[in-house]
Parts: sequence; C-alpha cells; structure tokens
Amino acid sequence: MLSKKEYHTLVVKSPIIVEKLAVIDRIAKTDASVLILGESGVGKELFAEQIHLRSLRREARFIRVNCAALPEGLLESELFGHVKGAFTSAFTNRQGRFELADGGTIFLDEIGDITLPLQAKLLRVIQQKTFEKVGSDVSITVNVRILAATNKDIEALVAQGEFRSDLYYRLNVLPLYIPPLRQRLEDIRELAAFFLKRYMLETKKRFNGFSNEAMHAMLSYAWPGNIRELENCIERACVMGKKSWIQEEDLFLTKTASSFQETGSRKLKTAINVFKAHFIQRVLEENKWNQTETAKVLDIQRTYLSRLIKELDIINPKE
Ligand SMILES: Nc1ncnc2c1ncn2[C@@H]1O[C@H](COP(=O)(O)OP(=O)(O)OP(=O)(O)O)[C@@H](O)[C@H]1O
Ligand SMILES: [Mg+2]
Repeated sequence: MLSKKEYHTLVVKSPIIVEKLAVIDRIAKTDASVLILGESGVGKELFAEQIHLRSLRREARFIRVNCAALPEGLLESELFGHVKGAFTSAFTNRQGRFELADGGTIFLDEIGDITLPLQAKLLRVIQQKTFEKVGSDVSITVNVRILAATNKDIEALVAQGEFRSDLYYRLNVLPLYIPPLRQRLEDIRELAAFFLKRYMLETKKRFNGFSNEAMHAMLSYAWPGNIRELENCIERACVMGKKSWIQEEDLFLTKTASSFQETGSRKLKTAINVFKAHFIQRVLEENKWNQTETAKVLDIQRTYLSRLIKELDIINPKE
C-alpha cells in the first residue's frame, strides 16, 4: 500500500463535486470497472485515488499506468511483465503492473491512446482475469480492480473503429464524469487558497490573499486547462506578486484567452486570432510593453506590431 503522502490531497467545496464523492463512496465498494471522463486537468487521477481509498481494497496497492507514455511493445511488458530473453533488452524476468496490483487496484490513465492489439489483450484480462508475460505461455491469474481514464471523446473513437466497443463497454460499467473547473466556482476559491498556501511556502513569500479584482478575474475565467492551469497561475502569481495581496495583473489571465472559451468558436480564423493576441500580449508583458523591443523579439516590423495591437484589441491591463 502507498503511504498517505503518496496520495494527493483532494480539495473539494462545490456541491457538484461533493455529490460526485457520494457517488464515488457507493461505487468504491464494488469491484466494477470505472471509466473516468473529463477535460484535461480536472483531476481524474485524484478521483481514481479516491475510489481506491474508499474501497475495500484500500490496504492493497494502487498501481498507476500512463498508457500514453510508452510505445506499444514497452507498454505491453509494463502491463503484463516479461520473461528473460523475451526481447533483446529483456535481461531478467520482470513482473508487470497487473501482477503488482494483485488484490488492489490498477489505474489505466489515458486509455484512449492504446493500440488495437493491446486493447484485445486488455479485454482478455478483464474478462478472464488471466494473462501471460511477454515471451511466456504460462497463464497468470490476478484479482485486480480496473479503473481507467481519458480526456478523449472515447465514443467517437469507438465510432471511428479506433477503440473496441466490447472493451469500451467492459471499462464503462460505471462512468464517472468530472466537470470542468469553470462549473465549480466554489472550488476555484478553495483551490486558489490551497495553492497559494503551497507556493507561499515554496517561494518563502507572504501574501494576505487575493484582491477582490483578482478573485473576480479567477471566477470569471474559463480555465481551459482546469486545475492544472489554476495551479500554474497561482505559482506564477506568487513569484511575480509584489504587494501584500495577489493582484489581478499578477495572474496574467488575459481577456482574449477566456473569450475564446466563452464564444466557444471552432472557426480556425478566430482561434488563430485568439492565439495571436494571447501570444503577442505575453511577449509585450515580457518586454514591459516596449513595442520596439517586442517587435524585435517577434521578428516583425514595429508598425505591423502596432497595427496588430489595434486590430486584435490587445490592452495593457496596467494602463
Ligand atoms: N480537487 C483537487 N484538489 C487538489 N489538487 C487537484 C484537484 N484536482 C486536480 N488537482 C491537481 O491538478 C493537477 C491535474 O490533475 P490530474 O493530473 O488528476 O488531471 P487529469 O484529469 O488526469 O488531467 P489529464 O487528462 O491532462 O491527465 C494535478 O497536479 C492535481 O494534483
Ligand atoms: Mg491524468
């Protein structure tokens, strides 16, 4: 079992997530597979941990595997293990993650990224609880609960034939959708305070909290990168902040970045303009809004830069 400090602290305040945790309490007690869905950075891994920690398997291991991090061959041996000599670099026998998780829980993160041949092998483990190490024909039987997560539209992958529908149904016995941060306003406050405390310790700086304008900006921002983005934002604010309260400008939440989410436009031209505005604003900030310097960095004419600033409605928040 992992020691307590190897699990993350889950900060929760919003009613929508409190309700999810009540659901998690109920599904944790079963052995059914859970498919956790939600945008990038919403905390899918933390919810997987909660399912394990609230289950009868909590004293056993919680094993994570990032299925997107390894190429197919390596992922197969990571999951199922291999015997000595199975492939050129297999110098010793190795236990796979499924064997390590025996009696506990395995969390297959980024499940939408696994190849079709591996999907077939995974399906067999789920159905029969048995598998063979790479290079061996001895079957191993395990008792493992399977949790999986993806930020991809897995139903679309199934429709396109990139994800096996039988595996999808097996994994998706209990679907758990984690809503984006912009729908969890109470969590924004709570998480902002949590991360501020963390980064005050790390940066050895002291702030009383967030100014009203800063808090308002955070509550109205769309957070396309969710909690991961909020954490980065607070870390940056801690480093940059010079006053006793974190100011709106310390957060660098640009109007353009959120308006893209708000309009929800999927037109390429709009997206490019939003990116352009966002990018130019960042470079301007880095160069203290000196247009000559910024134009040099961007490798464009100074006159072209000032035209872009007007056209894209880029404003210096400090003016
Ligand atoms: N409720 C929360 N309380 C505290 N920290 C959180 C919470 N939710 C997420 N985080 C933090 O935010 C970051 C992103 O979370 P996580 O990695 O679980 O996201 P994810 O949904 O798996 O994203 P991706 O799809 O990109 O893998 C992590 O550093 C995590 O510790
Ligand atoms: Mg993740």
